[in-house]
Order: sequence, then C-alpha cells, then structure tokens
Amino acid sequence: MAIRPIRVLGEPGDEVLRQTAAAVTAIDGAVQTLIDDMLETMRDAPGVGLAAPQVGVPLRIVVIGTPEVPAFALINGEVVRHSGQRWVEEGCLSIPGYRGELFRSVRVTVKGLDRQGRPIRIRAVDDLLAQALEHEIDHTNGLLFVDLLSGPEHLHRKGDEPDDEAGADEPEDEAAETAPVYDGRRRRRGRAPRFTTRSSRLRTLAAVR
Ligand code: NI
Repeated sequence: MAIRPIRVLGEPGDEVLRQTAAAVTAIDGAVQTLIDDMLETMRDAPGVGLAAPQVGVPLRIVVIGTPEVPAFALINGEVVRHSGQRWVEEGCLSIPGYRGELFRSVRVTVKGLDRQGRPIRIRAVDDLLAQALEHEIDHTNGLLFVDLLSGPEHLHRKGDEPDDEAGADEPEDEAAETAPVYDGRRRRRGRAPRFTTRSSRLRTLAAVR
C-alpha cells in the first residue's frame, strides 16, 4: 500500500476533480491496489472519505470510514434515493483550510459494488455515513461541496473562525448537537441559511477550477 498525493483545488493537476469519473468495468489487481492506497491515504490524511479522482484517478471508486462504520470501498456507487434536508458542516481533503455549511439529505440510499464486485446497497439516515456517501459520490461526478453552498457566507477559512473550539461564529446557546460532522466538527441544526449571491471568496474558488 502507498499513500498517494491528494489533488487540491487550485493547484496543478486539479482538473481531474472536475471530471465525471468513468465506471469501473473490471475489478482487477490495479483496482485493488488503488483501493488499498486510497484507504491508506484516507487514514493518513486523516479523513472519513476519499474518492479516486482526489488521487488523480478518474474512476467511480470511493472509500469511506467513519468512527461508526469500518472503512469500506464502494465501486460505481450511485445515490438511488434521498430525502429530507439537514444543515451540516463539512470540509474536503481537496479544499484544505476551508469549511462550509450546506444542506445534505437526511436519508440516503446508495447502490454499487463492493471491492469483490458484489452488489451492495447502503441506507444511511441522518448520520455521518449519509453525508459521506453524498460527498464522495459527488466527487465521482466532478462536484465539490463548494458548489452546493447557498452563499459565500457559508464558506469559511478555518483560521477565520473567531471561536473555533466552541463552534465557530455560533452563539453558545445555539443548540449544538453531539453528532459528529463530516470531518469531526459538531453539526449544527435548525439554522436558517441565508441566500445571497456568490462573493469574491467563492468566486475565487470557482475561478481556479
Ligand atoms: Ni471531498
């Protein structure tokens, strides 16, 4: 196994992050090696999910491992059902230093193949797995979380948050729930998003796609 360099938005080689990845047609030794490397790269980062385009391979392969769910690979994964909306916070290994707040589905059903090529179906409800499934499958469609933000105020530089430990710029009394978010921060619910036009910061990220 080997740790592979993670492609970063705005840096050379990031074009692959914007491609629609190709379906895997043969789960051969190269695919097994790729999955092993992705698992190691994800653990090393550390992260709870990684998609093959993030290591420069435009194939529909993702790996996910959350505190609750042992790491697994999903090949040719697709979201077949999703419903509900929840307001979550997340980051991405390909957009280091930034965090965003956005809507994800409450219920997510995904189908695909495991690394042995067996059909699998995963149903996740209101948890980190549901968020990771949507986030990683988005990657295989060339979509990043910054594309889903409803406004520039929902993108933050990590260091810009005045009260990082206690939940960024949120008042203390804004009922923080205990469920983990995509990269380990607490999830905040029930906060009405504001809809505005894109700001310069968001445009900056868009411009480097
Ligand atoms: Ni990501």
